[in-house]
Amino acid sequence: MTAIYITRYMRQNFLLAVALVLLTACTDTESAWLRENLTYCDVQVHRTLNELRGDSGRIDYSMTPRNIGPDESAWNLVSAATPDDWTIGFFPGILWYDYENSQDTMVLREARNFTERLGYLAHRPVFDHDLGFIMICSYLNGYRLTKDEGYKQVLLAAADTLATLYNPQVGTLLSWPRNVQMFGGHNTIMDNMMNLELLLWAAENGGSERLRDMAVSHADTTMAYHFRPDFTSYHVAVYDTLSGRHLYNCTHQGAADSTLWARGQAWAIYGYTMMYDYTREPRYLDFAKKVTEAYLQRLPDDSLIPFWDFSRNDERDASAACVVASALIRLSELTGEARYLDRAMTMLHSLSAEPYRCGDAKPAFVQHVVGNYPAGGEIDYSINYADYYYIEALTRLKAHVK
Ligand code: GLY
Repeated sequence: MTAIYITRYMRQNFLLAVALVLLTACTDTESAWLRENLTYCDVQVHRTLNELRGDSGRIDYSMTPRNIGPDESAWNLVSAATPDDWTIGFFPGILWYDYENSQDTMVLREARNFTERLGYLAHRPVFDHDLGFIMICSYLNGYRLTKDEGYKQVLLAAADTLATLYNPQVGTLLSWPRNVQMFGGHNTIMDNMMNLELLLWAAENGGSERLRDMAVSHADTTMAYHFRPDFTSYHVAVYDTLSGRHLYNCTHQGAADSTLWARGQAWAIYGYTMMYDYTREPRYLDFAKKVTEAYLQRLPDDSLIPFWDFSRNDERDASAACVVASALIRLSELTGEARYLDRAMTMLHSLSAEPYRCGDAKPAFVQHVVGNYPAGGEIDYSINYADYYYIEALTRLKAHVK
């Protein structure tokens, strides 16, 4: 009996050792490739900042870059002075990652300027669940890199504000307060998994324990009602506001209620990986692997860049690939499974080459992103969130490519 245990112990450790070697065994070629890509990001960031300075030489921090259309070469800006654009945290987040990689103090200064323009959101009634995206990308990255106590206080206040969307009857955050009537109840969208990080972080950093409980309840309820038996996700789950009963599932940005919206599944992969990262609850790791498998098995070809919906073969959505690449690097670290890192590398190689790299044509990092196809919005664009997860993935990769 003892011999069996010893053999099993040795085998497990041997597999772990092999996985660790594979995780760190990237070649010099990969190292040069990663350096080139980080430099490319830095060049594009400087181009963007110069574009924002324009002739006046002064940046208006109340306006933030959101997208560049297929026939355009300059950023379209959105207001950061109102909370109704969910993407206003991504550009500050890009600046934080570029600062982390370049150590350029000018970029640090601009990261602070764009971030601090968003602080007001922590103290006003919440607009919707995207407060999490906005604050995580801007303030949480800023706090991670500077340990600025003021940033921590903003994050804690923002978490309490986000928590006002929690409905204890349902056990999830309401995603879109403005759409309760349209959907006929308490709506929760898959994207909302991403915003739970703000609650988990706050609970670990001086905020109320109940913020963690809300995040766990949201993730568990979503696990129960937001997926098909094959672990593909619906975009929207609707619940009765008063009784909390699950009513139905549908889509908002996918091709149909019955199909798989690529970025929705990307949010699920990233979201459950993040849940495991914070809580170390094995059920989240198990689920992250299952939703990842459902996504990987359906990818159309070797580029590993999905069409915007898995039922379609018209437009690709590079943003889903950026989100998944970043998540898979973390999933690889958490599991010791090299194949996740390997897949992420393939995705990032595709995103860093034609036709996905913007290069000289535009100051963004990647192109061929789909925002909201059914609404005819941002089809085949460059969009700030794709760039954010692209540079996050490259930054995460630094730990594995020496
Ligand atoms: N969270 C909105 C989207 O993914 O388009």
